[in-house]
Amino acid sequence: MAPGAVLATRTVDRPGLDPLGYDLAVIVPTFNEAANVAPLVMALDVALMGLRYEILFVDDWSRDGTPERIAELAADRADIRVIRRFDRRGLSSAVIEGMMATMAPVVAVIDADGQHDERLMPRLFALVRDGSADVAIGSRYCSAGSTGEWSRARVACSRAATRLSQLVLSAPVADPMSGFFAIRRDRVEALLPRLSGRGFKILFDLLTSSPEPLRAVELPFEFRARTAGESKLGTGVVLDYIVTIADRLIERVLPPRLVMFGGVGALGLGVHLAVLRGMLGLSGAGFDEAQTVAVIAAIAFNFAINNMITFRDRRLKGWRLLTGLATFYTVCGLGALANVGIGALLFAEHHRWWVSGVAGALVGSLWNFLASTLVTWRKR
Ligand code: GDD
Ligand code: MN
Repeated sequence: MAPGAVLATRTVDRPGLDPLGYDLAVIVPTFNEAANVAPLVMALDVALMGLRYEILFVDDWSRDGTPERIAELAADRADIRVIRRFDRRGLSSAVIEGMMATMAPVVAVIDADGQHDERLMPRLFALVRDGSADVAIGSRYCSAGSTGEWSRARVACSRAATRLSQLVLSAPVADPMSGFFAIRRDRVEALLPRLSGRGFKILFDLLTSSPEPLRAVELPFEFRARTAGESKLGTGVVLDYIVTIADRLIERVLPPRLVMFGGVGALGLGVHLAVLRGMLGLSGAGFDEAQTVAVIAAIAFNFAINNMITFRDRRLKGWRLLTGLATFYTVCGLGALANVGIGALLFAEHHRWWVSGVAGALVGSLWNFLASTLVTWRKR
């Protein structure tokens, strides 16, 4: 091969290889799908002909004979497996565990009940394998897609949920709730620690937990009617979903670092009061001196804890501890001025005393956070 050719292939970011030789793992979550698993496997075998794939069922202790039926199918095939979980339910967590149990570079998810058009899967797979997408989604809302024979109410609900989801999605995806998609396994692994794993919106979970938007491509398909058995998605699932969105929204508005900074500040208030009390009681110092010492101690305490926890990734060491402490004192001093200033301003405008006080404290703390992020613990 010409050297240039090697270079050219390297520049395309493709998923790696499976030591076992599979190109694709198809993850099938099941709960009471006994009548559906054999037809599904047959359909997948036809659709995926020519590909090296394994089929991995993740069953949550179905009592209708589902695992037994899968075991029959797997009897003479190494490429069919079932993972059984006891005392647990959850579509998302089942899918995640299935994805972790394979070394195939691309993983796909499909419902067991025949509602997803498996004939689309080779194209979903190809998009991800070729590096054209991180995730390829079988979508019910793309121009040509359809929701099949869904009831009007369910279509409306589903559309409302999708619109809500756009609040927290960094890149627009027409059907972020789809349970039918293919994704690079390395992307999933990178996101594992951030996944909520709650509920059944696994794709949504993946999309919203990625710091950089995943490159998504959507292909339309017609959502078919269930072959047998019944849907498992009830009202609990809706509640779950709302909690997930709220979670992500709060995370967006209140970054974890800010929450931590606030928590440390509250502890600092405790330190302040303890020192104040101690100084007043022990040495019989006047209030002004005691208050001054308490402020100095509390700020030093905040600095130490924030340096250890809140900004542990930017931790200051050695002589930088001293310059850092100095800038932190300056920042907090200005924050206190802002605190008093805003409070006084509001109070003068006839706002209640406690509204003025709280507003001043909030502005001061926010200033402390922003300024110390930019100065004391600035990125190097
Ligand atoms: N292991 C496991 N554990 N599997 C489950 C569980 C569970 O707790 N709950 C459901 N499943 C399996 C079902 O057996 C089925 O194979 C698949 O997950 C989807 O469940 P359904 O009950 O058929 O869901 P649906 O058809 O109402 O919902 C579909 O559309 C949603 C979008 O509206 C699914 O594709 C969802 O993923 C999708 O979000
Ligand atoms: Mn279904």
